[in-house]
Amino acid sequence: MSGRKVLILLGSPRKAGNSAILAGRLAEGARSVGSEVDRFYLHDLDINPCTACEGCHREGSRGCVVDDDMQPIYGKLADADSIVFATPVYWFSVTAQIKTVIDRLYAVGVGDDNILAGKNLGILMVYADSDPFTSGAVNALRMFQDISGYLGTEIVGMVYGTAAGAGQIEGNEQLLEDAFRLGVKLGGG
Ligand SMILES: Cc1cc2nc3c(=O)[nH]c(=O)nc-3n(C[C@H](O)[C@H](O)[C@H](O)COP(=O)(O)O)c2cc1C
Repeated sequence: MSGRKVLILLGSPRKAGNSAILAGRLAEGARSVGSEVDRFYLHDLDINPCTACEGCHREGSRGCVVDDDMQPIYGKLADADSIVFATPVYWFSVTAQIKTVIDRLYAVGVGDDNILAGKNLGILMVYADSDPFTSGAVNALRMFQDISGYLGTEIVGMVYGTAAGAGQIEGNEQLLEDAFRLGVKLGGG
């Protein structure tokens, strides 16, 4: 048992959608090497936008002062060895659910308050367009690269591809296999 912890943040409103299916495969891969996997379906949670109150960066502050469902996720982020963002492309970027969580990382990813440095990241992304550029996936992947560079994390892998209707990704065995393998990498250290 590696005992490594993998945290998956699900950004689609579709519980059984394509990104959730990829995330399921990644979780299987991580568990196959003894990892503990936690998944949060963000759409069901009460997570509010960052208010830029700066309460998180005040002297003696104990993190984000917004009391909502982001609080347990902060604890899981601190414990995790690997963090996975699973999202469809919405309007040439990530979903609002994912972006809201990213904004809330302001409390734990900046300067002396950065608890994320050194962790591993995994990115899972799906889009309806046949091309990663015209779909907007490349914008979102680049955003994750910039975020990772800023945080001092390492992107271990990005698995992305085309699917439209919920579940269509099941027909892409290669992508599912890639997601499983990324889970093995993230889970096995
Ligand atoms: C509001 C909305 C915006 C979308 N924007 C894009 C887009 O910009 N580019 C694209 O290729 N697909 C876009 N799509 C299609 C989804 O990315 C695609 O259906 C994906 O497979 C959904 O993943 P899911 O099943 O995990 O929700 C959009 C879908 C919705 C509902």
